Amino acid sequence: MTDLVLPQIDAYAADHSLPETPTRRALREETERTMEFARMLVGPLEGAFLHQMARLVQATRVLEIGMFTGYSALCFAEAVPDQGRVITCEVDEESAAVARRFFAQSPHGGKIEIRMGPALETMAGLTGPFDLIFVDADKLNYVNYYRRAMELLSPRGVMLIDNVLWNGDVLRDPPPDERTAAIQALNQIVTADARVSAVLATIRDGIWIITPRPSA
Ligand SMILES: C[S@@+](CC[C@H](N)C(=O)[O-])C[C@H]1O[C@@H](n2cnc3c(N)ncnc32)[C@H](O)[C@@H]1O
Repeated sequence: MTDLVLPQIDAYAADHSLPETPTRRALREETERTMEFARMLVGPLEGAFLHQMARLVQATRVLEIGMFTGYSALCFAEAVPDQGRVITCEVDEESAAVARRFFAQSPHGGKIEIRMGPALETMAGLTGPFDLIFVDADKLNYVNYYRRAMELLSPRGVMLIDNVLWNGDVLRDPPPDERTAAIQALNQIVTADARVSAVLATIRDGIWIITPRPSA
């Protein structure tokens, strides 16, 4: 992934936003040192944004699709109250092992519940409402995640969907591959969905901020 936002602008914005907690910093640094696809982790600026969104909606129940080594799950756990819960879905055991170690070191780690297995299956067995749903896993399922997440989202909640600019490839016609086509399809569906009010924010790789319309 190249940078859609100039790295020095991203760093300036991060420096002027909520600081990264020591546990999150240690987790990010270890992920960058040891994991092949460390760039999947949202990083300090988008992490601060996720944390702030959870605070804005006063989230007590958060659902995350795509945990990786647990950075964004920690951003949410640090924002929800003591009785709050962050349910996070993952398929990769190696990533989950790193996450578990860092959750154990955080005073907020006890709020996080890891659900191993394909996220669509996990979502099928969950009961809403969730105050915040963050979608950040396999792109080919983005439309399926969106549809199920709409059923699980609180009428006063917010859904966030990551990487929806896909490094700028959403502009390409025809799409260069299946993943790009899947993200383009999602973006069209969200744009046309009368049930929601949505903004595609140009933070990092693009993130949908979606809320149900009051009448929906
Ligand atoms: C982009 S990373 C998540 C990054 C994480 N949100 C963060 O910022 O730290 C996507 C993760 O989704 C996981 N994943 C892929 N397909 C999945 C599926 N069907 N169900 C659950 N997790 C899946 C991958 O193993 C990967 O760790």
